[in-house]
Amino acid sequence: MRDLALVRGEGARVWDDRGQSYIDCVGGHGVSIVGHCHPQVTDAICQQAAQMVTCPSIFYNDKRAALLARLAEVTGLERAFLCNSGAEAVEGALKFARLSTGRTGIVATMRGFHGRTMGALSATWEKRYREPFMPLVPGFAHVPYDNLERMERAITDETAAVLLEVVQGEGGVRPGGGDYLRSVRQLCDERGALLIVDEVQTGFGRTGRWFAFQHHDLRPDILCLAKGIAGGVPMGAIMLGPQVQGLRSGVHGSTFGGNPLACAAALATIDVIESQDLPAQAAEKGAYVLDQLSALDATVVREVRGMGLMIGIELRTRVRPYLQALIGERVLALPAGPTVLRLLPPLTIDYADLDLVLDALSRVLVVGPFSDTGDDDA
Ligand SMILES: Cc1ncc(COP(=O)(O)O)c(C=O)c1O
Repeated sequence: MRDLALVRGEGARVWDDRGQSYIDCVGGHGVSIVGHCHPQVTDAICQQAAQMVTCPSIFYNDKRAALLARLAEVTGLERAFLCNSGAEAVEGALKFARLSTGRTGIVATMRGFHGRTMGALSATWEKRYREPFMPLVPGFAHVPYDNLERMERAITDETAAVLLEVVQGEGGVRPGGGDYLRSVRQLCDERGALLIVDEVQTGFGRTGRWFAFQHHDLRPDILCLAKGIAGGVPMGAIMLGPQVQGLRSGVHGSTFGGNPLACAAALATIDVIESQDLPAQAAEKGAYVLDQLSALDATVVREVRGMGLMIGIELRTRVRPYLQALIGERVLALPAGPTVLRLLPPLTIDYADLDLVLDALSRVLVVGPFSDTGDDDA
């Protein structure tokens, strides 16, 4: 936990309880796609809060119906199950894959992160998250990411689904290769397994397209969404393609899933992403930041990588003290593993703020190294 009490947010800025402002490149762990308290989203929430907050899925609701249509439009996948978080989206995806194929195996990837409920945690790689909760759900295998040969060996006729991220987020901001991802798709087709793409972190414009799978002409059978979907209101969605079968009423459910408040917030968020063409903005701003960072002469930097406004700076040392030093520069950033400094700013951030972030980074990265005395949970 960082020594900071945040009490207000607006756009790409947040304020602490002493009135000090910070440029927010944590963005609620990638949630603030449209920025904090976007007026259109705030209006939609206020109006819906005065109209109807809860409505279970046994009844039709206008906002939910509108959102389902909108999600189908932007993802290209027609059916959706609405839930409340990323882990829940992954959890449901795993259940649907097992139900649809009648198989139990799930192939996930090393360094993959999919959440902390038991199914999602079973697919997550990091030992530190898994070990205290053993035994986890059986049937999960992990193979190295971006390694087709190992993937090929792992998919068997017991495999219900392959689950992967297009860019591994928590695992260090590691984009997968297009050929690799398309070949995994083909392997799934050949062997009767489903492809689950986890876009909880990469979705809704973050990587410079509406969804990261669109960079690679990839066709997910199941798409997991959450984080930025509803402008900060908790929501997740599982989008389903035609290969997913056997879903009958009652096989899965959620009391809060698809509540009208979250649906109204999501509709407004999607409108903002579309009207401001935030995916294009993310592509342009991300390219600018990567360019500037690549020109930085800092020996502590091993590599700079990313897609759109999902940026990782891999250091030759632990990242935690650098994050702390950035707070002193009034910039909030987050780690992606022990040595990667990650930036997930709102896609609405302006160039003046991006330049301030770059200035702060160049000061901190050139001045280091700092010594680390704490744990990795920076
Ligand atoms: C790729 C991915 N999947 C799933 C999750 C879990 O989402 P949540 O924290 O909303 O449960 C995350 C969270 O960081 C994520 O990055």
